[in-house]
Amino acid sequence: MAVKTIQWKNNHVVMLDQRLLPGKEVYRAYRDYTEVARAIRDMVIRGAPAIGVAAAMGVALGVVWVKGKNFDREIERIFRTLAKTRPTAANLFWALERMRKIYIEKRSLGIETVKRLLKEEALKIFEEDIAANRLLGKFGAQLLRSPSRVLTHCNAGALATAGYGTALGVIRAMKESGKEVEVLVDETRPFLQGARLTAWELKKEKIPVTLLTDNMVGYLMQHSKVDAVVVGCDRVAANGDVANKIGTYGIAVLARRHNVPFYVAGPTSSIDLKCSSGAEVPIEQRNSREVSHIFGRPITPRGVHILNPAFDITDHELISAIITEKGVITPPFQQNIRTHVRHQ
Ligand code: MRU
Repeated sequence: MAVKTIQWKNNHVVMLDQRLLPGKEVYRAYRDYTEVARAIRDMVIRGAPAIGVAAAMGVALGVVWVKGKNFDREIERIFRTLAKTRPTAANLFWALERMRKIYIEKRSLGIETVKRLLKEEALKIFEEDIAANRLLGKFGAQLLRSPSRVLTHCNAGALATAGYGTALGVIRAMKESGKEVEVLVDETRPFLQGARLTAWELKKEKIPVTLLTDNMVGYLMQHSKVDAVVVGCDRVAANGDVANKIGTYGIAVLARRHNVPFYVAGPTSSIDLKCSSGAEVPIEQRNSREVSHIFGRPITPRGVHILNPAFDITDHELISAIITEKGVITPPFQQNIRTHVRHQ
């Protein structure tokens, strides 16, 4: 794998610090679960599936140092701390639930066994995520013709997952199957995941990529320069509404206006059947400094009022299909998502 987003090494969690890309490739080793929690909150690692993997490894790391008699109290503290890091990505809560299940079901086997099983589960979550991305990539690649100019938003690549990526997994699979693909990526203000991360990942793999600013999408579609949109997802509600990086909704509206297919790619671990619609998905509001400053420099008068919602909801009517590791979900999503998730 060309990009090593997160690894487990000698009882440390090692992450590529995504805040410094594309300028510097710095790997940070964490020994304490509170550091892992801070790394998630501060965007050292980001992207829904990667956040899930980091949280699972955070639990496995946290219990390494816990003594027997405090185990129940300490593990609850670990779960609570990691769950509070970022509210929108379903994968975070899904991964913590999986870890909790191991702890509940296996605690009678003794603390040392539970510690080992938690570590194994975290590594399983990591491996399964890569496998899911490879599968969904293949399904997605079949939907797109060759050659295609595919617009993506934010970073739903290897950096946002355990590896390979979701939206970029589809692109990678297209390339692997011999299809011609050119990627258009918008910069994705304010955190610039498109400009900094997606452009970096694709350049590294020699996949043709063109960068645009967020407000150029309408112009490009008006001039028939986009064949399809493929984005990732942070949470998919039971009716098919999708929470993803702020700006996704605007792109979906434009895609509908210009008859451009709009695809969402993500593992089933991003589907949250407990949310009946997008209205129930908590939207993270981030620090205003991400908007008022670029690379530490102010770009606006001091004291101006600032908004910084990190995600938006794209309603299901605007989505052509949702691609997962189990196949392609088409409308009506209300019925098809439930059957898809249950289908093994
Ligand atoms: O704030 P971020 O960078 O964590 O947001 C990431 C996104 O919105 C991605 O599109 C989403 O998590 C899917 S990643 C495979």
